This record gives sequence, structure tokens and C-alpha cells, in this order.
Amino acid sequence: MTTTNRVAGAARAMFVAIAAMVMLAVAQPGGAALAQTANPDVQSEAQGSIDDSQMWQAIRKGATGNVSIPDRNAATLIQSEGDNWRAIRNGPLSVYSAYALFGMIFLLALFFVLRGRIKIDHGKAGYTVPRFSGIERFAHWLMAGSFVVLALSGLNMLFGRYVLMPVIGKEAFAAITMWGKYLHNYLAFAFMAGVALAFVLWVVHNIPNRHDLVWLMKGGGLFTKGSHPPSKKFNAGQKLVFWSVTLLTISVSLSGIALMFPFETHFMAKTFAFLNNFGFDLPTNLAPIQEQQLNQVWHAIVGVAFIVIILAHIYIGSVGMEGAFDAMGSGEVDANWAREHHNLWVEEMEKSGQLKSARQPAE
Ligand code: HEM
Repeated sequence: MTTTNRVAGAARAMFVAIAAMVMLAVAQPGGAALAQTANPDVQSEAQGSIDDSQMWQAIRKGATGNVSIPDRNAATLIQSEGDNWRAIRNGPLSVYSAYALFGMIFLLALFFVLRGRIKIDHGKAGYTVPRFSGIERFAHWLMAGSFVVLALSGLNMLFGRYVLMPVIGKEAFAAITMWGKYLHNYLAFAFMAGVALAFVLWVVHNIPNRHDLVWLMKGGGLFTKGSHPPSKKFNAGQKLVFWSVTLLTISVSLSGIALMFPFETHFMAKTFAFLNNFGFDLPTNLAPIQEQQLNQVWHAIVGVAFIVIILAHIYIGSVGMEGAFDAMGSGEVDANWAREHHNLWVEEMEKSGQLKSARQPAE
């Protein structure tokens, strides 16, 4: 007998033993499954015995027995929610995620065709003003660089086998996916660090103020040439990006950590218990594997929503607007760009004398 056969034989024997234990436990009077399947017409305390079909039906519906080994999950022989989870993941979750991603790409392309690149209305001043310091750009590129890898490796996990595998073959796909998964797990921490640093540096500039309402009502002037609603360092659109990044990072990180350390957390049960205070009626007694499945679905939904928002951000910070990229590239922006898009910030800087370092145009 080869080693492989011996291992397979041992695994089979173990499965049969656990199955027998669970079936015995399920068949015990007073057992969880029995409680579900007992004949309601029998009025006495005596439960009687259940027949095979009732017992298997209970097991098929996820009845839990008793096991004496440390792995409590082994007490559930058939976890039906797994079927539902897989159907959701490979069905509506993937389909609607694809709609959302392509929808955003389509909208951005349409915006580009209709509006074109947003130009500096007064042309370039020819000299620059400092916009972001080295540490601010470091925080930005730490979160942006890691986010891009997280997004691509995450999308590969959701869609890769349908999109990439047929093109590059199984072996290359397996290698890419394995390395992508390692990157996904480790870069998650770089991303969290980047967001935490950006939060500390920028939160003070992202407190809503009265100008934000005007900015939002005018659509930020994005749809009208020459319209530039007043704004401080960050306009209302950027504040929405900032707070979305902050909240989505918290949510995607917690669900991601739950996936990294399976069966250790109860985030979903706790969230459901909290939501039940507001009139919901969500299950709070979740099996450990259900926690994992819900975490996976939530992680994917938040991740895709995050990517959709960031696609719009990347567009406006690069091809969509003349002069914007320099803010995060060199850290210096053209003075006319600054006056058009962030006039109140420029005024503040001038008043406090912080614009003295601006380079003047060459004579
Ligand atoms: C990868 C391509 C990216 C480009 C080209 C880019 C570009 C920019 C630029 C030019 C700014 C400064 C805007 C200004 O001066 O007013 C900025 C700001 C910012 N970026 Fe990015 N970014 C990218 C990715 C990301 C990612 C992945 C995140 C977060 C997940 C992010 C989060 C932010 C935040 C929170 C701000 C400040 C608020 C705002 O301006 O919207 N960026 N980005």
C-alpha cells in the first residue's frame, strides 16, 4: 500500500467515524436535530426514535451533532449555506460587480467625450505653488500603490478564472493567483498604514463647511466650462472621496482580517445584533462557517464599491483635469490651477505668508 493510499484510507476512516458520531448525536433524544424533526402531535415528553429519512433530512439541513475533537466545525456534516454562498458569489455578486465596474468606466468615457479634459481656464501661470509635502505624497502613494495591487489581485480572485485563465492557461493562472494572494494578504497592511497616515494628515481639511453645499449644488463646476465654486484645500467632492476611503477602508480591513484568521471573529454576528436594535430581524447565532461566508460576500461588495469610487478619482486626478496630477507628482501646482480650483485655500496661504516659497516665472 502506497503512502498516498494509506493517507486516503485514514482520511476515509476518520470521515466515517465522525459521520457515525454526528449521526449518533443527532439521533439522541433531545438532540438539536431531533428537536427540529420531532412529531408535534406527540404531546408527551417521550420523543420516540426518528426514522432514517428524518435523520438524513436533518443532517442535510445542517443539523449539528457532538464531536469530542477540538474542531467543532466537524460536528456539522452538511452545511447547506455553502451552496447558497457559492451561488451568490458566482451569480449576482459577480454579475452586479461587473455591471458596476463597467458602468463606471462607461460613465467616465462618456464624460470625457462630452466634456473633454478640464482645462486651466486662464492658461498656465507659469509658476507654481506648493500643494502637498513629501510626507503627504508618501502617504498618498503608499495607499494608492498598494490599493492598485489589492484591487487587481482581488478582481483576479473574483473574475480571473473566467477572464484570465482561458487566455493564459491554467498553470500561469495558478501561479499568478498564488502570488496575487500573497500580495493581497501582505499589502493589505501597507494600505491600512497609508490610509491611517493620510487620515491623520488630512482630516482637519476634510471637516464639512458651508462652501461644500454650494460646491455640490453647482456639481463642482465639472459640467460647466469656466465655473469654479469656491473651495478651501479640499472641495466637497474630495471630502466625499476622503470619507469614503476612510470608512470603506475600515470595513474592508475588518472583513479582510476575518478572512485571514478564519473562525476567530464574530464581526457579522455582532453587526447583525447591532442592526437588530434598529428594527432588523437578522440571525445572530451564526455558525463559524457562515461568519466566513458572509464576511467573504461583504468583503467583495465593499472592495468592488471601493474600486468603482477610486476609478472616478484616478480619472479626475490624471487625464480628466489639466494640472491636477502635479499635486501628487512633484507636489507643486500651477498657480492659476490653484486659484481656479482652490481659491479660498490660496487666499489663506497668501494671508499667512506661506506662499512666499512659490517659484516666480522666469524673466
Ligand atoms: C493610482 C492612481 C491615482 C492617482 C493618479 C491619484 C491622484 C491624486 C491627485 C492628483 C490628488 C490630489 C488632488 C488635489 O490636488 O486636489 C489625489 C488626492 C487624493 N487621493 Fe489619489 N490618486 C490615485 C489613487 C488613489 C487611491 C487608490 C486612493 C485611495 C484608495 C487615493 C486617495 C486619495 C485621497 C483620499 C486624496 C485626497 C482627497 C482628494 O483629492 O480626493 N488616491 N489623488
